[in-house]
Amino acid sequence: MVAIPEGSVGGYGSHDDHDEKPGFFARWFYSTNHKDIGTLYLIFGIISGLIGGYLSFMMRMELGEPGIQYFATGHDYNVFASMHGLIMIFFMVMPAVIGGFGNWFVPIMIGAPDMAFPRMNNLSFWLLPVALICLLISFFVPGSASGNGFGGGWVMYPPLSTSGAPGPAFDFIIIGLLAAGFSSIFGAINFITTILNMRAPGMTMHKMPLFAWSVLVTAFLLLLALPVLAAALFMLFTDRIDGGTGFFDPAMGGDPEMFQHLFWFFGHPEVYIMILPAFGIVSHVVSTFSKKPIFGYLGMAYAMVAIGVVGFVVWAHHMYTVGMDVDLKAYFLAATLVIAVPTGVKIFSWLATMWGGSIRFTIPMQWALAFIFLFVVGGVTGVVLANAGVDVALHDTYYVVAHFHYVLSMGAVFGIFCGFYYWFGKMSGYLYNKWLAAAHFWLFFIGVNVIFFPQHFLGLNGMPRRYVDYPEEFAFWNSVSTAGAGITLLGTAFFFIMLIEAFIVRRPAGENYWGEGATTLEWTLPSPPPFHIFNTLPRIEDNDDGH
Ligand code: CU
Repeated sequence: MVAIPEGSVGGYGSHDDHDEKPGFFARWFYSTNHKDIGTLYLIFGIISGLIGGYLSFMMRMELGEPGIQYFATGHDYNVFASMHGLIMIFFMVMPAVIGGFGNWFVPIMIGAPDMAFPRMNNLSFWLLPVALICLLISFFVPGSASGNGFGGGWVMYPPLSTSGAPGPAFDFIIIGLLAAGFSSIFGAINFITTILNMRAPGMTMHKMPLFAWSVLVTAFLLLLALPVLAAALFMLFTDRIDGGTGFFDPAMGGDPEMFQHLFWFFGHPEVYIMILPAFGIVSHVVSTFSKKPIFGYLGMAYAMVAIGVVGFVVWAHHMYTVGMDVDLKAYFLAATLVIAVPTGVKIFSWLATMWGGSIRFTIPMQWALAFIFLFVVGGVTGVVLANAGVDVALHDTYYVVAHFHYVLSMGAVFGIFCGFYYWFGKMSGYLYNKWLAAAHFWLFFIGVNVIFFPQHFLGLNGMPRRYVDYPEEFAFWNSVSTAGAGITLLGTAFFFIMLIEAFIVRRPAGENYWGEGATTLEWTLPSPPPFHIFNTLPRIEDNDDGH
C-alpha cells in the first residue's frame, strides 16, 4: 500500500495548482491524467456507438419489410451485421464502461493519486483509434468473392474467415482486434496493479466500493480471456497467409471446431467483461437513491468474483450444435445454470437495498431500475438457451439475437447511461436538463423493447439470423421491430440534445447534487472535481458497523 502525503506528489500526472496547465494538444494527446483519459474513452465510445448504431439502424431498415430494399447483396448486409457486433463490443461498450468510468472513478474511489502506469494508460487509449481505423478500412477493401468487407460474423468462424474471406478486409480486422486486445490487456494490468497496490490507508479490499470491485474482477477476466482471442486471431492469420499452418483446416490435419473453443473461451467471459462494471455502477446508484447502504455488500462483491470464475468454464454452451457428445452437453448445461445463482444474489440484493429505503426516481435511478428489469428478462431467456436440447431448435434464430440484446444493448448500455447520468455532474461540473434526460430515457426504454421483444417471437417461429431477407410470414413482427428502431433513434437524439444543452447552459452542479443524505453513503468530492485529488481523499466507510 502506498501512503499518499498531503498536497502534491511528484511523478507523472501530478499537478500543483501553481503548475503551468498543459496546452490542448499536450493535455489530450500526451495525457497521463486518469480523468482526461477517461474522458477520451467516453468520447471515443460515443463516436463508436454512432458508427455501430448506424450499422444496426440500416439493418433494421432493410428488415422493415420482406424483399431487398437498401443492400446490394446479402454479403453487404452480413458485413454490416459483423461489424456492428465487433464495433459495439470492442469500441463502444468496453471503452465506455472500463476505459471511461473505470479510469475516471476507480482511482478516486480507492483514494489513489492516479492509475499505477499513467503512460501505459495513454497507450491503452491510443491503440483504440488505430484499431477502429483498421476495422473501418476493412469496409472498403476486398474481403469476399462477392464484395468488399468481412461478412463472416463477429464470431469469425473458419472457414468463413479463412478460405471464405479472400482479400485484405479480414486481415485488417485481425490487426485491429489485436490492437484493441493489447489495449485491453494493458488496461487490465493497470487496473489490477492500481487496485491491489495503491489503495489509500484504511481502504481495505472489504471496504472498497463495489464499482472498484467490479472493475477488478473485469480486469482479471480481460487478462485471462484476451490473450486467448489474440492467439486464435494469430492462428487464423497464419492459416490465411499461406504461412504453412492449417490449425483450422481439416485438409492439413487441423480442426475448425478448435477455433470455436478458443473463441468462446474468450467470448463468454467477454459477456461478463461488458456487464460486470454495469453491475458495479447500478449498485452505487440503487444505494444512493434508496438512501441505504447496499444490501449484502460482501455477498455482492463475491458474487461478482463467482460470476467471473464460473464464467470461464461454460463457454461451449455457444457450441451445442457442433456435435459434441451428450455428457459434455450435460456438463456445460449444468455449469451454465450455476451462474444464475450469483446473478440471483445480485438481483435480490438490489431489491433488498431498495426495500424500506427512501427511494427517489431520479434519472440515474430510472436507468438502474430499467437495467435490473431488462437484465432479468435477458437472463431468463439465457436460462432457456442454456438447455442443450432447446438450444438446438433456437440456435442462430432471432431468439438468440433478442436474448443477447436484452443482456447487452439493454443491460450493458443501460448501465453505461446510468453511470453517465449519475456521474455527469462530477465529470463535467454541470447539471443536465431533467426533461431532456427523461425524454432520452423513456424513448430509449420504449424503443429498445419494441425492437427486441418481438424478436423473441420471430426466433420461436424459426426466423434465422444473418439473412438480408425473409419470407412474408415474418413481416409483421419485423415491421414492429423496425418501428422500435425509429423510437430508439429519437431517444438517442435527445441524449445529444441533453449533452449540448448542458454544455451551453452550464448550470453548476452543487457539492452534493445527489441530494440530502446521499453523502453518508458515497465518496464525496466537491464538484466540479479538483484538478488533482491528493488532499481530498474520499471518506472511507465502514460497512460492518451495522448502520
Ligand atoms: Cu456464453
